[in-house]
Amino acid sequence: MNVLLVNGSPHANGCTYTALEEVAKTLNTEGIGTEIFQIGTKPLAGCIACESCAKTGRCVFSDGVNDFVDLAKDADGFIFGSPVHYASAGGAITSFMDRVFFSDMLAGRQSFYLKPAAAIVSARRAGTTATFDQLNKYFTISEMPVISSRYWNMVHGFTPEDVKKDLEGLQTMRVLARNMAWFLKCKEAGIKAGVTFPEREETILTNFIR
Ligand SMILES: Cc1cc2nc3c(=O)[nH]c(=O)nc-3n(C[C@H](O)[C@H](O)[C@H](O)COP(=O)(O)O)c2cc1C
Repeated sequence: MNVLLVNGSPHANGCTYTALEEVAKTLNTEGIGTEIFQIGTKPLAGCIACESCAKTGRCVFSDGVNDFVDLAKDADGFIFGSPVHYASAGGAITSFMDRVFFSDMLAGRQSFYLKPAAAIVSARRAGTTATFDQLNKYFTISEMPVISSRYWNMVHGFTPEDVKKDLEGLQTMRVLARNMAWFLKCKEAGIKAGVTFPEREETILTNFIR
């Protein structure tokens, strides 16, 4: 089994990465494979609502979003990490996640369906819970079981060295990783035992003018 971890920070080895690394190390000790995907520093456009993904299966912009979507199909679980920028998720990771989840839905790929997910956030000081709420909304609209920890998944720091001193934050990351590993093993055991995926209904879309 394999968990894909997304570093939504421009810092490849910064605070968010330090937290993700703690999650990844613990998942590895639980026998779960990991890959850390960097969104990087190149500009990431927001979703332009062109809906061409519904026809082509891919986002119209050829960048890390499509690279990630290719990997996501085969991943068993996901961790999305973001630094806090002005009490919200960073602009780049917000654009990235809008396009990943919108193109997946319109293309009917279902790369995220009933796969466990968790958000983690990193801040110097404040805006963590608002950012955590923001990221969790992508999961709950996509039928993803949200894995929790013993506290809200956050670390505090301006540098990776600060994060390494946030012992409670790092413990929160390890507990999260063990809970995700446990869920993945239960899901695998359930499927092996013959538990089938739930019955699905045709989507009903009502706009509020009706
Ligand atoms: C544009 C920008 C806005 C930020 N806004 C906040 C903020 O609202 N609250 C906060 O605590 N830290 C804020 N910070 C600091 C970062 O969230 C914090 O240092 C974080 O741990 C950096 O993670 P990274 O090294 O993975 O990028 C901001 C940093 C930047 C660059």
